[in-house]
Amino acid sequence: MKRWEDKAWQSSMRIRLDFNNMLTSHVGSRGIAPNEIAEKSALWEAAARGVAAKRDQMKWRELPYTQNEIVKELQETAAYIRANFDTFVVLGIGGSALGPIAVQQALSHLRHNDLPAAKRNGPKLYVEDNIDPERLASLFDVIDIKRTAFNVITKSGSTSETMSQLLLFTSALREAVGENWTKHVVATTDHRAGNLITIARENGLRTFFVPDGVGGRFSELCPVGLLCAAVCGIDIEELLGGAAYMDALASEPNIWENPAYMAAALEYIAMGKGCNIGVLMPYADSLKYMADWYAQLWAESLGKSRNEEGALIYAGQTPVKALGVTDQHSQVQLYTEGPFDKVLTFLGVERYRKELAIPHAYDHLADVAFLSGHTFNELIQSEQRATEYAVTKSGHLNKTITLPEVNAFTIGELLYMFEVQTAFAGELLHINAFDQPGVEEGKNATYALLGKQGYDAKRQELSAAPAKEAANTI
Ligand code: PA5
Repeated sequence: MKRWEDKAWQSSMRIRLDFNNMLTSHVGSRGIAPNEIAEKSALWEAAARGVAAKRDQMKWRELPYTQNEIVKELQETAAYIRANFDTFVVLGIGGSALGPIAVQQALSHLRHNDLPAAKRNGPKLYVEDNIDPERLASLFDVIDIKRTAFNVITKSGSTSETMSQLLLFTSALREAVGENWTKHVVATTDHRAGNLITIARENGLRTFFVPDGVGGRFSELCPVGLLCAAVCGIDIEELLGGAAYMDALASEPNIWENPAYMAAALEYIAMGKGCNIGVLMPYADSLKYMADWYAQLWAESLGKSRNEEGALIYAGQTPVKALGVTDQHSQVQLYTEGPFDKVLTFLGVERYRKELAIPHAYDHLADVAFLSGHTFNELIQSEQRATEYAVTKSGHLNKTITLPEVNAFTIGELLYMFEVQTAFAGELLHINAFDQPGVEEGKNATYALLGKQGYDAKRQELSAAPAKEAANTI
């Protein structure tokens, strides 16, 4: 039996949501009164029924089970890449990049790429989620393309950024290795939509599919994230196991027993009190990019101008990324003394994977010596506690999610919890949390500007927009 299949181990790895500091009892009058949560029970129950009824359409909820079927194939491809290449480059953007970045940062050595090959668990990894020409050109300076595998990921199979990257790197590969370029490229895309599937079929590329009904930002637990994780030696079965464990908790209709629903309900009430900003502040470098992944999930899902009935509501809460303790020395002043327009969510770790002692020295300097004998673990956890205290004392709403440790199981739990939290918040707001018309508008305008066929009307619309006036530029 693998460790994550053991029930006792699973319970010991359960992540916890502590929302004491959202309540009036802890933050005072700006907080949420416990009866405020209880009084809205009909609202929570209706939203729970709504989410359960729509489960059939939320195919991402089944990924912990459906993706088990392709784990072997993913592991075989990962083994092929690990055996034949020194570097693995992911080409993708948004939901096709942020998950791989977050999971790799959480579960691989924090200096993965800097380690010598013999000590590194897998090839070097670069996730190219931008088209800055300087950045793309600089990649050629640090990789040997003949020893590099690429995973091009685009659900729609047509995103300009990713397709232009594909053109760049396949052209360079052709030059470097000729016909063998196809052995260097894995495609991850929809099985029908877009052009990547056509290119993959025409060239016989290894291909994985983003299942139907799984949107970009909800796709980390399918090949979008799983292949990259497997290439980096991460146990993807444990990751899926953690997500399945959270699915059981997050399917509980009673919000007092469901951490995902409770977190969404608290944010919903807080939004009603004017908290239009949500700060996610992990106290671990391993979780730093989890905040980026979450920011996309929360912003792109909830930022909607119209509700499901078509009424203009301009919904959403602006996600802000922070890192403990680093941002204690930049943003926390605002969080303690600034406006009451935010909810802070601390992301803590009970047991870090390393323990590091602070050495003894300078006994004659009391202000330095007090640190001696402690560990960095104690220091970072005390600073988290101290910041929670300061933020609470100043009356600002905050809550804490704690991972017993950072491993594939708890990361699977966390990803899944945030996804269900987002779906529940969408239900409470009566919006479609799974589309992104604002993003599509920008994509279509880009196609029009670059002369893509079929975008004449959009091109005309763009040229009819008010021209920028020189007088307004100084
Ligand atoms: O969540 C989403 O749908 C988006 O952020 C997409 O992930 C992003 O636009 C990239 O799209 P695609 O994977 O189709 O290239």
